[in-house]
Amino acid sequence: MASPTESPDMATDKAKDYLFTSTQDWFSFNMETWRKLFPLVTSKAPRVLEIGSWEGRSATFLLDELCREDGSIVCIDHFDLMRSDAGRERCRNITHNLAETGKTHRILDHFSFPALMILLEEEMSSAEPGFDWVYVDGSHEADDTLLDGELAWRLARKGAVFIFDDYDWNVEPQDSRHHPKRGIDAFLSLHDGEYTRLSSPSQYQMILQKTSDMCIGFLVKEKADQDLAHALGYGINVVYAIDSGYAMPAAVSVRSILEHTKERLTVYIINCGLADDDKSKLRDSLPSRENFGLVFLDLPSGCLTRNAGVVWAKLEIATVVPVERVLYLDGDTLLRADIKRLWDEDLRGSPLAAVRDVGCSVLLYTHAGPAGGSR
Ligand SMILES: C[S@@+](CC[C@H](N)C(=O)[O-])C[C@H]1O[C@@H](n2cnc3c(N)ncnc32)[C@H](O)[C@@H]1O
Repeated sequence: MASPTESPDMATDKAKDYLFTSTQDWFSFNMETWRKLFPLVTSKAPRVLEIGSWEGRSATFLLDELCREDGSIVCIDHFDLMRSDAGRERCRNITHNLAETGKTHRILDHFSFPALMILLEEEMSSAEPGFDWVYVDGSHEADDTLLDGELAWRLARKGAVFIFDDYDWNVEPQDSRHHPKRGIDAFLSLHDGEYTRLSSPSQYQMILQKTSDMCIGFLVKEKADQDLAHALGYGINVVYAIDSGYAMPAAVSVRSILEHTKERLTVYIINCGLADDDKSKLRDSLPSRENFGLVFLDLPSGCLTRNAGVVWAKLEIATVVPVERVLYLDGDTLLRADIKRLWDEDLRGSPLAAVRDVGCSVLLYTHAGPAGGSR
């Protein structure tokens, strides 16, 4: 929290009868900055999540101004677990203040971690999960701040405005584990590439806009209909085996997968004679995407491909590629649809499935005779 502003009790809407303690205003100086961010929120009924609400100054401001037409807020605060007079009074005041806004609101009177776990589980069954605006303003401990950020990030929709308070707090040294900056910096490093930083280096708060998809990242036992494969996050593994002659077609092929497939993708390229220059050109030709990885694998010395040629490289997959399930594509395959459809193909117990070349009547292999179809 910044130094409280000594000001007369102020409310964003004077017609409302808010109960705020005048010496405990750690928020009003942010109002102008925040108003400029409101156009980033495109939802007609913004959903707001706040960790650390005190008497509800920031919460009532967001309900009055961001949720002017429609919207809602969830406020998390432990209120000293109602074990102190001060905690109970703060809870009474925020309950009154949020009701005064006339907007939809909910108070979770817990410590942030259990409260966020409640929300994570609830959001899994929601038709429109996630929040458009998240304000992390609870504990100042670096590890608490990191964990608040982590759990809340999973609840933030793509495009959400995500604000950490107290990045430039002056009460503890900035490198102390009792300062939120240390936790926020760890968060920023971990999620590099998943946000745009909106605040300037001199700003008191760290303000981000999330650019990655929302992903809660776990499932609950009670809900059997959830997509387990997606939650496990293993993604799709594609293998090519190419030499220099196929570097360019393979680059086109990988790009065509990326254009149709949103799922996490790892492409393994078995190096059957690529120069360093081929590898870097191939890598540079592809878009960088947080859920895409490109791995070059070298062949072991004395293997069949080294002795008999690249056409045998498919047989090396089981020994060279470090994953259990792969989709092999020829280097000149152009994908015209989401490769997940192929990846999800049920092999019905077979260790291998293959597809006949278009226009070619030769079966690659059958397990039920030519009449039984090729797999
Ligand atoms: C600076 S105040 C919040 C100010 C508020 N956003 C406002 O605009 O007035 C910090 C709040 O975080 C709460 N808090 C601190 N640690 C917490 C935790 N681990 N879980 C939940 N709430 C916490 C405190 O009870 C306090 O009300």
